Amino acid sequence: MANWHEKQVIYQIYPKSFKDTNDDGIGDLQGVIQKIPYLKALGITTIWLNPIYVSPQVDNGYDVADYYQIDQSVGSMADVEALIQALHQNGMHLLLDFVMNHTSDQHPWFQAALKDPQSKYHDYYLWAQAKPGQLPNNWGSFFGGSVWEPTPKAPNHYYFHLFDRHMPDLNWQNPAVRQAMIEIAKFWLNKGVDGLRLDAFIHIDKANFKQFAVGESQKPVIDDTFYAHLSRVQPYLREFCHALRAIKPDVFILGEAASASPELLIDYSRPQNDECDAVITFRSIVDRLDQLDSRLPAEFQPKALDVEGMRQRLTTIETKLADVSLPVLYWSNHDMARVASRYASTDYYWQSLKCLAAMLYLQRGLPIIYYGEELGLKNSYLKQLSDFHDQTVLPFYQQALAVGYSADQTMKMLNQTHKMAARGMMPWDSDQPYQGFSKHEPWLNGQQTTPVSVAAETSDPTSLLVFYRQLFQLKQTPLFTAGDEVIQPTANGVFQYTRQLAGQLATVTCNLSDTVQLVTNNDGGQPSLTVGAVDQHAGQLNYSPWSMTVTINDKKEF
Ligand code: NOJ
Ligand code: CA
Repeated sequence: MANWHEKQVIYQIYPKSFKDTNDDGIGDLQGVIQKIPYLKALGITTIWLNPIYVSPQVDNGYDVADYYQIDQSVGSMADVEALIQALHQNGMHLLLDFVMNHTSDQHPWFQAALKDPQSKYHDYYLWAQAKPGQLPNNWGSFFGGSVWEPTPKAPNHYYFHLFDRHMPDLNWQNPAVRQAMIEIAKFWLNKGVDGLRLDAFIHIDKANFKQFAVGESQKPVIDDTFYAHLSRVQPYLREFCHALRAIKPDVFILGEAASASPELLIDYSRPQNDECDAVITFRSIVDRLDQLDSRLPAEFQPKALDVEGMRQRLTTIETKLADVSLPVLYWSNHDMARVASRYASTDYYWQSLKCLAAMLYLQRGLPIIYYGEELGLKNSYLKQLSDFHDQTVLPFYQQALAVGYSADQTMKMLNQTHKMAARGMMPWDSDQPYQGFSKHEPWLNGQQTTPVSVAAETSDPTSLLVFYRQLFQLKQTPLFTAGDEVIQPTANGVFQYTRQLAGQLATVTCNLSDTVQLVTNNDGGQPSLTVGAVDQHAGQLNYSPWSMTVTINDKKEF
């Protein structure tokens, strides 16, 4: 059954950084409403908002203290209702982030559990006892250190947190937890929300706590074996999704499965399984690791795009999901550095960003654009280590200095690679204070590093913003939403694929390198979108650095 979500172009908004309308320095829901015309003109059909529920903001909203209320920093229930209404009036849809693996430690469930171990809420969370001076096991938290945090006032007793210690994990083995999460989701769907992005759902089942990870016995080891993709994830997910579809058959369920292999993408999105409609994996992007400094951890070192590796990865994903679901196509999100900071060419900045967009978003799949990407926005520059709000940053900084990097070089590396620097303000107008984001100093202490703005790019027909509009117009045609895809074997540095539907064939050819590339394209089609110079040369096409063509043959001549 064709579903509305199969034709969506999704725009991810980090609400705190998009548009502030009451000048407190924090972006808000009224700001999103105000910018609907901008998004519509860009060709966006669905908005995904990062969490907006009541939260102490330890992890920017992924630590939820009340799932039924809006955090006052971004607005009110009336604002979200107005947003839903305004989007629907414009034929657009809203996805909310749904945080199901954990709550905030301030959530009344956790507070009740702490206060009274006999309370029914105690069994909403995960606990373990340890021998004096030891931890229950050596599993590592994604945010550094152990997954175990001492329970206040209970000697040798611990609670489990996969992320920050202020985000205790829920016990999904408890049917009351599963039912409570279903009720929350239904509440939002009944409000008119069109779909949910399921945060970290792959972690809702855990292994036996008695099992140690291989490594030094007490030193925490991050190992998915014990808390990702375990056997009860799918039954729980299915029960959850089934209950939502029972009240809203066309709900769009977008799962976040950071570490999912192509095989797991199939499992989580196979229509017969009644689980997700589409799944985001962080494994669709492939970096080169051969140029790293082996003396430092890879995470905060800049890396180049591995075009060949990405071709292989996307070929696998596109092939395996061909009859299953739509792959999710994205270059950036709030958990990684911005694409312009990662892969843009210094010498061909604008062309390179246009080519990267075309290389990905015309493929078979659902594009998700991270706010500001359409402008060529880079990571902000954060001046203090504390601005990163990440306990793993200081050890990296100290290690880098110890092996000879200067403080300045290290800060540059961190700013180029860190997720927090990717959460900067949307620049609306450079002539306004704080780029028109707010009249008040923004919540994030970061400086814009590229002089881009909506105002400047709206009036420039050659801008990246205008290119994105053209790209999404093309994307919304049946050939690019529904056509079959074949990724072609080409020289490294070139990415080429075809899309085919009925009597139409499109060829997208992108030179993703700083050098000229010779490419064969004999589809006989007419150019419908180009970037940079492409010349005929002895029967082949000569693609100048970071150039791109989309040709379409609709005369059935191929
Ligand atoms: C994935 C989210 O994208 C990330 O930002 C968050 O920290 C974790 N899940 C925990 O909710
Ligand atoms: Ca505000």
